Amino acid sequence: MIPDMESRIPLVVANWKMHGSKTMIEPFIQELHQNLAAAAILKPDTFENKPLEIAICPPFVYLEQTKELLRYNLIMLGAQNCYFENVGAFTGEVSPSMLNDIGCTHVIVGHSERRQLFAETDAIIAKKCQSAYDAGLIPILCVGETAIERSEGKTFEVVARQLETVLSSGTLAKFVLAYEPIWAIGTGATASPEQAEEVHHFLREKLSQYGASNTRILYGGSVKPGNAKSLFEQPNIDGGLIGGASLIARDFFDICRAAV
Ligand code: PGA
Repeated sequence: MIPDMESRIPLVVANWKMHGSKTMIEPFIQELHQNLAAAAILKPDTFENKPLEIAICPPFVYLEQTKELLRYNLIMLGAQNCYFENVGAFTGEVSPSMLNDIGCTHVIVGHSERRQLFAETDAIIAKKCQSAYDAGLIPILCVGETAIERSEGKTFEVVARQLETVLSSGTLAKFVLAYEPIWAIGTGATASPEQAEEVHHFLREKLSQYGASNTRILYGGSVKPGNAKSLFEQPNIDGGLIGGASLIARDFFDICRAAV
C-alpha cells in the first residue's frame, strides 16, 4: 500500500451483509472505538485520526442506529445497495438521495451477491454507481471473477468489462473499486497476495486510462486478521472489503490496524 496521496488513504469497509441486530450494534461500535483509541489510531481528546478511513455498512434498517453511535470522522457510514432512481413508485427500493439524507457517505454497488442472486447486470450497476455519485455518495464498485472464469484464464477480461462498463457510461469523479474474486468470498480461500496484486495492478492500469489512477482499490474475499497485513502490503492494495470478519469487533479492528 502506498498511502502517499490523499486519495489513497487506506480504507477498510465492513460489509455486514444480512447480519446484525439492534443489540449487537452498540457493543460492537464501543469496542471498535476503544480499540482504535488504545492503538492511538484515533485520539478522542483532540479528535485527531491517523490516516485511515473505515466505513461500516450495516443492513438498511440499522443505518440510523449505527450512525448515532459513530463519533469520529475516521469511521463513516455506508449502505450495501441502492436503487438508481431517487424517488418514485419502486416498492421496496431505497434511493441514493435517501441514503445521503440519513448520513451515509458510501454505498457498495455491484457486489457479486447482487449480481448473482439478484440478477444485477453491468448496465444496472453502472446506473447505480452514477446515481449514487450524483447524490453525493462514494460508490464502492465491486468486480471479480468466478472460479470457472479464473480457470479459463478470463479474469482480466471479466474485471475489465465490469469496470469499463461503469467508467465508459458516466462521469464518476470519485469512487472506490473493490476486487473481490467470487471464489474467495466467504470460502476461506483467500487470493494470495501475489494473485490479488496481479489483478489490482491490472485494474490500476485500466483506471489510469480513464485518468483515475488514484482511485483506491480494495481487496475483498476471506480477509482475516491473519492474512490482512500481507495483502495490504501490496503496492496496489489500498485496504479491504470485509464480510465475515467484520462481524467480530476485535477481528475487524485487527484488520483495520493492519491497514495503518
Ligand atoms: P468475506 O466477504 O470477507 O466473508 O469473504 C467479503 C465480501 O463479500 O465483501
